[in-house]
Order: sequence, then C-alpha cells, then structure tokens
Amino acid sequence: MSKMKGKHVPSPLSREALLDRIIRVDHAGEYGAVRIYEGQLAVFGDNHPMSSTIKHMKEQEDVHLERFNKLIRDYNARPTLITPLWHMAGFALGAGTALLGTKAAMACTEAVEEVIDKHYAEQIDSLDEKDRTLAETLEKFRQEEVEHKQIAIDNGAQETPGHGLLYGAIKLGVKAVIKVAERI
Ligand SMILES: [Fe+2]
Ligand SMILES: [Fe+2]
Repeated sequence: MSKMKGKHVPSPLSREALLDRIIRVDHAGEYGAVRIYEGQLAVFGDNHPMSSTIKHMKEQEDVHLERFNKLIRDYNARPTLITPLWHMAGFALGAGTALLGTKAAMACTEAVEEVIDKHYAEQIDSLDEKDRTLAETLEKFRQEEVEHKQIAIDNGAQETPGHGLLYGAIKLGVKAVIKVAERI
C-alpha cells in the first residue's frame, strides 16, 4: 500500500507507444481544429469579413488532418475512441465563440493554437533521429499553427471583452482533451 504513495513517476514509453500516442492525439487535434473552423464558418457564413481568413486556416487544417489520416494507417496507430465527442465539441466551441463575436472567435483560435504550438514543440523534442520525417511534418504544421495564432491576434483576439477568462478557459479545455486523446 505504502508503495503507492509518493511522487508518481511515469515510466518512459517505448518508441512504438510514443509514436502511437503522438499520432493519435495529433489526428484528434487536427480533426477538432477542422470542426472548430467549420463551427465558426457556420455562424459567420460566406459574407462575413473574417470568413475568407477562417477558410484559409481551415484549408490548412484539412491538409493537416489528411496527413494524419495517412499517418494513422502508415504507423498502424489506433485512432481515438472519442471522435464523436470531438465532432460535437469542436464544432460547438467554434460556433459558440463565433456567436460571441469576431474577436471571441479569434480568441478561441489564439488559445487553441497556443496550446497546439507548445504541444507540437514538445512532441518534436521527444522524437529522435529515426523519426526525423515525422518531426519535420510536425514542425511544418507547428509553423502554420503559429501563423493562425498570429492571424487571430492581428484580428483583435486580445481585445475580446473578458479575454483572460475566455482564453484561459479554452486553453484549459484543450489541454484536458489532449490528455484524454493521448490515452483513449
Ligand atoms: Fe492544424
Ligand atoms: Fe491551426
């Protein structure tokens, strides 16, 4: 019993388990990103001043998702079991923030991409030379996520009323779903 107490030290993952986890969570994340932008576009429609910018970001997310669909097959990784949740929660987050206004929609993108940028960076650090091709893919995508975050900031994300609260809540939520997708 006393062995269970004290600091929990996670055992290092095997390379296979690490890759399986990376690909599963990134696949889920890119799926969620597409759904967030779809939710925002559903609210804004085609004629909103931000719609073409959001479409541009969504098209990059489509490419990211396509790549992870392929990587899931190539690496024989297990997709997350909670895709239906992603499907709804991503869309709801996008649509919900868009309903609060343009700046809130941008704050959503800012928060999500901030977490994803850090997340990709950590994954890249955890990979070794054997997985260089995967690391290069993650780095390319990470740079596009940083671009999305900058677009959001340039379009008023940080001027959202209650920015700190909204930004913090979304970041917490995204971190939580990452933890879930890594495991199930
Ligand atoms: Fe992405
Ligand atoms: Fe993105």
